[in-house]
This record gives sequence, C-alpha cells and structure tokens, in this order.
Amino acid sequence: MQALNWTPALWLDFEPMDAMNRDFMALLGRAQEASDDTLVAAWQALVAHAARHFGTEDTWMQQEAFATAEQHTLEHRVVLNLLREGLVQAQGGDQAPVRQMAAELGAWFSRHTQSLDAALALHMRRATPSRAATD
Ligand SMILES: [Fe+2]
Ligand SMILES: [Fe+2]
Repeated sequence: MQALNWTPALWLDFEPMDAMNRDFMALLGRAQEASDDTLVAAWQALVAHAARHFGTEDTWMQQEAFATAEQHTLEHRVVLNLLREGLVQAQGGDQAPVRQMAAELGAWFSRHTQSLDAALALHMRRATPSRAATD
C-alpha cells in the first residue's frame, strides 16, 4: 500500500485548498490504518469530507466560470460515486473493495491535486488574493 505523505509537490499555495487536501490525506491515512471494526466509520468520514471538498471546488469553478470545470467536476463525481459504492459494500459486510480503494486512492489524489486542483488554485489565487494568504 502506498502511504500518502505530504510533499511540497502537493502544496498549491492557496490555503483553502491546501487545508482541504491536508484533511483528505489525514482521513485517507486513518482509513488505510483502520481495523475491520473501524473501517466503515473511517470510510464514512472520508466520504463525507470528499463530498464537501469536491463540492466546494465545484462551486468555485461555477462561480468563476472556470475553463476546465467540466472535466474537473466530472472527475470529482466519478470518484465520489466509487467511494460511496465502497461504503455501501463495506456496510453490507464486504470490506475488500474499500481496502483496495484505500490502497489506490493516494495515487489518484496526488495526480488530481497536481493537475486539475493546481490549475484551479492558480486561478483562485489570482481571482481572490485575500483568501490565498497562508496564516
Ligand atoms: Fe481538491
Ligand atoms: Fe479537485
């Protein structure tokens, strides 16, 4: 399993998104380390976070009429659907799909953050300079 560690490559220099990304990584880490007894709760927390995280970015892209919004929002939707399907399966007693997703999600997250999220962060830094401040 690929452990997801914070690296400078994942830093977007737009604090609202960096904060969400740190939360995502922490929750994914918890799901990866969860026991059979705690996996459903850990995955549920990750799904709830992802819904808020992706929803926030989707809203920004709509408000800003952002150029690659369609592709970015579609990727959010596909991944969130997979996470939710996994949750239903785990709640039904089959933890294998969630275990596999937990192991693979870090690679997707790194790719997504460094491509689609990075482009959005660059735009948001310029569009809302007051929110970009890291404090
Ligand atoms: Fe993101
Ligand atoms: Fe995103």
